[in-house]
Amino acid sequence: MTHQDTSLAEQIVLFGGAGDLSKRKLFAALYHLDVEHLLSSSTKIIAIARNKISKSDFQEFVRVNLEKYVKEPLIEHVVEQFVKRFDYVQLDVSDQEGFLALKNALRADTQTLYYLATPPSIYGLITQGLNAHGLNHKQTRVVMEKPIGHDLASSQVINDQVSRYFKESQIYRIDHYLGKETVLNLLSLRFANSLFSTNWDHNCIDHVQVTVAESVGIEGRWDFYDNTGQMRDMVQNHLLQIVSFLAMEPPTDLSSENIRDEKLKVIKALRPIDQSNIHLKTVRGQYTKGYKNGEPVPGFLEEEGANTQSHTETFVAIKAEIDNWRWAGVPFYLRTGKRMPCKHSEVVIHFKHQPHNIFGSSFEQLPANKLTIRLQPDEGIELTVMNKVPNISNDIEVRETKLDLSFSDFNKDKRVIDAYERLILSAIEGNQSLFIRRDEVEAAWTWADSILNAWTASSEPPKPYAAGSWGPVSSISLIARDDRNWDE
Ligand code: BG6
Repeated sequence: MTHQDTSLAEQIVLFGGAGDLSKRKLFAALYHLDVEHLLSSSTKIIAIARNKISKSDFQEFVRVNLEKYVKEPLIEHVVEQFVKRFDYVQLDVSDQEGFLALKNALRADTQTLYYLATPPSIYGLITQGLNAHGLNHKQTRVVMEKPIGHDLASSQVINDQVSRYFKESQIYRIDHYLGKETVLNLLSLRFANSLFSTNWDHNCIDHVQVTVAESVGIEGRWDFYDNTGQMRDMVQNHLLQIVSFLAMEPPTDLSSENIRDEKLKVIKALRPIDQSNIHLKTVRGQYTKGYKNGEPVPGFLEEEGANTQSHTETFVAIKAEIDNWRWAGVPFYLRTGKRMPCKHSEVVIHFKHQPHNIFGSSFEQLPANKLTIRLQPDEGIELTVMNKVPNISNDIEVRETKLDLSFSDFNKDKRVIDAYERLILSAIEGNQSLFIRRDEVEAAWTWADSILNAWTASSEPPKPYAAGSWGPVSSISLIARDDRNWDE
């Protein structure tokens, strides 16, 4: 499919053009869009950074990073054409006069996407500079990376600054989990299958588990991570977005406002957790030294640059509850951490037990059905069902059997599309459904702030867990108190 639509971004301006996100993700995502003919032939990419570097050196820098981060063999003629799309503008955004150089590099009155891959603390300065130089006309959109702020108040400051110059309809707040194939598939699974849409509530579901585990540590990002922690880095955004897709009411259609309205209702319905129940509803952990793939790895407080007194959490487990008609009495157990045994993200829907067991010879209590949605890696869906054991006896013996749908089996010849490719394309096309609206960000902060404040108020440090384990023992107690276990 080639896009010749006039709404296409003819110019993409990458603030933070030499940064980590650009190197690891954005160049590769844009390159893949070029491979798929999804960029118009005249699209230019203008990278902005503070270093003095020539255009040709920057183009070489793009090529080197494509070689490093694109997993598939590069297509040389596309690389040639792709790197030539790049221009480079040296700009320190605190020097508002410097925006003149950007203005000179841009075509006027052209569809323009400003991608802010910089710390959010300078989003205000960037948008102010764009405005002062007349670069925020109605054909412009601005893409902002998370985390928007550190808490509700700081997110409001940033959003106020940006909205002084850009309308909400021009603002695209990224949560890259919303670009993941398997996260989006939650919508089709729920709303395209009557099997699930009719059984998706407190009548049929006992509880839900969401695990987002990473084996990496903080990867040299001590300052960022110590100021952020797992609650702000992963729960406030990625996990809450997964929960909102799992729990939302069916939107009337897939329009961005309808989807976002329904997600917002879920986040607003999350029962507050505060000082009164923080110990019962949450566990925060911090990794100590341990092993990754058999190799010793340092603890969080021994990482390079560490402040050895830090109480920053690298693991969070939460029993979340949604106070609405559909989900009354159905806990959502959330768990996420760094330095866990492997990279593994999944959702497990535990259905209720049968009311009466007529197969007592096989099981004292029949196991309940379980729907596992593997988000990454080895994406797929697995449904455990009870099935008859083939035999001639009159006794009907049953056992648990898995219906396993591995996406890689039926999508063999399909490349896995990276979340950033999908999101950049959506922003280019002006579709906001996969981006977070301001009220969603604020509702998510309101819920997260209450937990963070309660942790700060308690003098207890995070619970230790050895790198390479599934988190502190108290995370097991969190769910065991309800007579349930984490799925390992
Ligand atoms: C980012 C966090 O948003 O998501 C990182 O800042 C984390 O700390 C990453 O490692 C995880 O993303 P993914 O796509 O690898 O699951």
